[in-house]
Amino acid sequence: QAVSSLQQVCEPSAYSDDDCADMDWDNLRFGLVPTDYMYSMKCSDYREFEQGQLSRYGKIELSPSAGVLNYGQASCCHMYLFMFEGLFEGLKAYRKENGQLILFRPDQNAIRMDIGAKRMCMPCPSIDQFIDAVKQIALANKRWVPPPGKGSLYIRPLLMGSGAILGLAPAPEYTFLVFASPVGNYFKEGLAPLNLYVEEEFHRATPGGAGGVKTISNYAPVLKALGRAKNRGFSDVLYLDSVNKRNLEEVSSCNILIVKGNVISTPATNGTILEGITRKSIIEIARDCGFQVEERAIPVDELVDADEVFSTGTAVVIAPVGSITYGDKRTEYKTGAGSVCGELHSTLVGIQRGHN
Ligand code: COI
Repeated sequence: QAVSSLQQVCEPSAYSDDDCADMDWDNLRFGLVPTDYMYSMKCSDYREFEQGQLSRYGKIELSPSAGVLNYGQASCCHMYLFMFEGLFEGLKAYRKENGQLILFRPDQNAIRMDIGAKRMCMPCPSIDQFIDAVKQIALANKRWVPPPGKGSLYIRPLLMGSGAILGLAPAPEYTFLVFASPVGNYFKEGLAPLNLYVEEEFHRATPGGAGGVKTISNYAPVLKALGRAKNRGFSDVLYLDSVNKRNLEEVSSCNILIVKGNVISTPATNGTILEGITRKSIIEIARDCGFQVEERAIPVDELVDADEVFSTGTAVVIAPVGSITYGDKRTEYKTGAGSVCGELHSTLVGIQRGHN
C-alpha cells in the first residue's frame, strides 16, 4: 500500500477551534506547550482496557510504588535482568489548508506499542482503542494544531505500570495516557545540516535488551553522551553497536541512513535499533522513487565514502547531516539543493501534510 494512502482524517468535533491568540506560530520549537485536554484509560489485573476519557490537561496521581517509578528507569547494565514498565509513542497531526486535521500512520504507532508491550510484559490498548484515543486528543486540542506549514501537533501516548508493586514483577494496573503539544523543528539548527559525533564510550542498546522497542529506559541513558557532545558543539550523537563497536546503530532520537550513488543504506533492525515509522516510510518512498535500499550492518568506516547522510524520526522528520566526526576525523556530506535527502524530504512532508 502506498504511504500516501495511509494518513487518517479526524472527523469534525464539538471542541473549540478558537485561535490561540498568544501563540507565535512562526517561532515554534520542539518544546512542551501545555494544551487543553489529555486522555487516559486503565487496565487492571490484565483484563481489557476500560473505556477511556478526556480530561483537562494537568498533573496525574501515582502511587510512590507504581511499577513505572520503581523499575521504569534503570541503568543500561541491568538491561538483561529487569522488565522496564514504561513505553511511549510519538506521532503528529497536521492541519490542511481546508482546516481538516490528518494523522500520519497512527496504526503503525499502535502496532509498535503492542509489540513493545509484549516485550515488557504489559497489556496494551487495541489498535482501534489507540487510534480512537489519538483522534480524540487531536480533535479536543485542535486549536493547538499549527496553521499549515507552521508545524504540527505532536501527540505523545504513554503506557505505564501504574499499579503499586514492590517486588520485581509486572504491575497489577496499567495506565494509557495521551497528551499533545504543538511543535516546530526538533533540532535548534532548524532545517540546517546536523553535525554528528560518533560515540565510542557509551552505547544505546545491547543484543537481547530492549533497544528495538520504544521503552522509556532507552532514553535517559543517552543523555550523558548527548550532553557531552552538545557541550562540544555537536548536534547529536551517533551510536555504534555494543559488541564489536564497529557498526552504526542510531542517533539519540532518530534513525540514520547513508547514501552512495543510487543506494540508500540503513542499519538493519535486529533488536537493538528502533523500528522507526519515518524510517519505514522513507524506505518505501525511496524504493518507489527508484533508489535501491539496503537494510544491513554498516561499518563505521563506510562513513568516509558516503555521498550523503541523513536521519529520520517522528520528531525529527528528515534531517540532513552535514558532517560526522569519528575520533579526530571529520567527514563532510552533500546537503541542500539536488540532494537525495531533499527529494525524499519534500515527498514525505507532502504526504504528511496532505498535499499528495
Ligand atoms: C519521536 O521522534 O517521536 C521520539 O519519540 C524521539 C524523542 C526523543 C523526541
